Amino acid sequence: MTTTSDPSSPQIISDADTDAAQSSSEGFSQFASQVIERPRPDGVATDATPTVTFRDFSVFYGDFEAVKSVNAGVANREVTAIIGPSGCGKSTLLNAINRMTDLIPGCHTKGQCIYDGDDVYGPQTDVVWLRRRIGMVFQKPNPFPKSIYDNVAYGPRLHAGTSGSELDQIVENALRGAALWDEVKDRLHTNAMGMSGGQQQRLCIARALSIEPDLVLFDEPTSALDPQSTARIEDLIAELRGKYTIAIVTHNMQQAARISDYTMFMYEGELVEFSRTAELFTTPEHERTQRYVTGRFG
Ligand SMILES: Nc1ncnc2c1ncn2[C@@H]1O[C@H](COP(=O)(O)OP(=O)(O)OP(=O)(O)O)[C@@H](O)[C@H]1O
Ligand SMILES: [Mg+2]
Repeated sequence: MTTTSDPSSPQIISDADTDAAQSSSEGFSQFASQVIERPRPDGVATDATPTVTFRDFSVFYGDFEAVKSVNAGVANREVTAIIGPSGCGKSTLLNAINRMTDLIPGCHTKGQCIYDGDDVYGPQTDVVWLRRRIGMVFQKPNPFPKSIYDNVAYGPRLHAGTSGSELDQIVENALRGAALWDEVKDRLHTNAMGMSGGQQQRLCIARALSIEPDLVLFDEPTSALDPQSTARIEDLIAELRGKYTIAIVTHNMQQAARISDYTMFMYEGELVEFSRTAELFTTPEHERTQRYVTGRFG
């Protein structure tokens, strides 16, 4: 981890940093009080092995290095938040984990992104296998224009050829896991486009869970939602914690403080600071982190 340029240099506050811009006049983040040290769910073991390890990992768009030599780990069955100003490389880093970046011409990587013991970019990695293990939820709910049932059934049908009562059970379990079952159980065969935005996002989470992933990546999953739907998704992530490894990009500091165990703070492609959320929000090591989490910079 490295610091970027001189933290005393003038900073730009972008629109996307408005969550952070509710500044605190004190030296500590106003969001520090949101950090909750939660006991682990009963019976769920965690180990020190990270699910994903970045080693000098860089991502380039052509010549432009959008993620610069990141060294960090995404802790097994914990929630890791990725924060930082707009354009600092959060989505790029997240998308690189399941090789969504393959879809972008000119995008290439350097260093290693290790998942399940192997370099994701190594010749032996099967991308279809990788995407079965890693679920993804985007900023804007993106259900297929199909029934609620078919949205959730899509992955298990495609990847495992599941059908019949076995598929019914998978769909039910995924919808229960996404805290949506009770709301939709009587209208499973109606079109998903008729759901509210918050319901659609929970459906997308159910779709991600239906493939029984190991790791779930969330890219600003609540930024298009109202506060009530946001609270439901945050509660849901808290419930998923311990069952899955979760990495979540967010612009919302309160959210990062509330729901994550670890936080990565990025700036201009570099990972400035990575530590336990409680520490990053209360006793950040770098001044730039402190200024960001106290809302005094972009
Ligand atoms: N497809 C692309 N082609 C070229 N450059 C890109 C592409 N996608 C992103 N970039 C650039 O890479 C950098 C990091 O972008 P990225 O989307 O990862 O940032 P971010 O931190 O997720 O920002 P935001 O908070 O606005 O979503 C930015 O400078 C961006 O302009
Ligand atoms: Mg982004």
